[in-house]
Amino acid sequence: MEHRTIIVTGGAGFIGSNFIFYLLENTEDHVVCLDSLTYAGNLSTLAGVANHPRFRFVRGDITDREAVYRLFEETAPDVVVNFAAESHVDRSIENPGVFLQTNIIGTQTLLDACRKYGIQRYHQVSTDEVYGDLPLDRPDLMFTETTPIHTSSPYSASKAAADLLVLAYHRTYGLPVSISRCSNNYGPYHFPEKLIPLMIINALHDKPLPVYGTGENVRDWLYVEDHCKAIDLIVRNGRVGEVYNIGGHNEMRNIDIVRLIVHALGKSEDLIRFVADRKGHDRRYAIDPSKIHRELGWLPETKFEDGLQKTIDWYLQNEDWWGAIISGEYQTYYQRMYGDR
Ligand code: NAD
Ligand code: DAU
Repeated sequence: MEHRTIIVTGGAGFIGSNFIFYLLENTEDHVVCLDSLTYAGNLSTLAGVANHPRFRFVRGDITDREAVYRLFEETAPDVVVNFAAESHVDRSIENPGVFLQTNIIGTQTLLDACRKYGIQRYHQVSTDEVYGDLPLDRPDLMFTETTPIHTSSPYSASKAAADLLVLAYHRTYGLPVSISRCSNNYGPYHFPEKLIPLMIINALHDKPLPVYGTGENVRDWLYVEDHCKAIDLIVRNGRVGEVYNIGGHNEMRNIDIVRLIVHALGKSEDLIRFVADRKGHDRRYAIDPSKIHRELGWLPETKFEDGLQKTIDWYLQNEDWWGAIISGEYQTYYQRMYGDR
């Protein structure tokens, strides 16, 4: 699979953009980014590769069958990696409809295009949230690939539905698919609505730091580049029809993350506010990544303390990027979500 043409959907978002940077730097692949530029997609993120000879950006919606088919006809992709999604749990609780549309119907549209035009691999970027949550008092329990699907939010339900469709297209039509289910990512270009960038940006402005519930919920954090490397490995060497969990054995309570950020920025813990909990808030996620380690030799490379410092430094140095985002529609969102919480 030398010199492949890869369609990366959702490549103007957080993880998709990092994946594109990874491919352009580390492979000879030709990369076509398909992204509709929702509130979460930013062309400025891709400015550094816009003129790269092996890169092309196409604005389009993965639910738009005509546009998707046209792109497949034009580019004849060898591989499709689908990152495009509505990704924020809180927004899915407010307005589930668009999550079902993009995450489920969009996935089906891409799968149909793969069937019609042929493909070497369709890879679905999924999430550990499809497994639901784990109790806080059972540190011995972790999600494996055979843990039953048991979703909590409209977001995770839509991602789980998409996963089931991907596997159905493999079993029914023999489509060469793979799925990865990763834990929480962090790193450069993370949209400011998510925990880590939100806390960095609020702390920089000495604004209150809204911690949901008691702050004891646990997430399993992975530096985004480690996730990108894992996806690249799965697409190249992973078995067709398989699901691979990705995670770094790095469980942290939300409150501890917020305290680390406060201290790294030399701010006061008095900024922390415990606010109303997220509805249906998952307690703990923890990934068992032994399958991808055993089969593909993948291991995370970035230690959390290094990754968090790199991330904080990136936000300190890239105020242009996030400043443009938080000065727009984000303010309305923030007021709606946190105004009288
Ligand atoms: P993001 O919200 O930062 O980016 C999503 C991108 O998809 C944006 O560029 C947006 O414009 C684009 N998009 C949305 N709807 C579209 C549509 N209908 N057609 C075309 N493009 C569309 O998301 P992210 O955090 O980068 O997540 C990427 C993928 O990884 C998602 O599928 C998500 O479920 C999955 N995932 C995320 C994490 C995480 O911690 N962020 C962890 C595991 C899995
Ligand atoms: O586990 C993978 C998932 O991680 C991905 O599938 C999702 O796309 C991604 O958004 C992320 O989901 P989370 O809900 O875990 O991420 P979020 O950053 O929204 O929240 C992380 C934790 O922090 C969660 O327990 C809720 C809490 N939180 C979040 C925000 C935004 C707060 O306490 N305060 C906040 O303001």
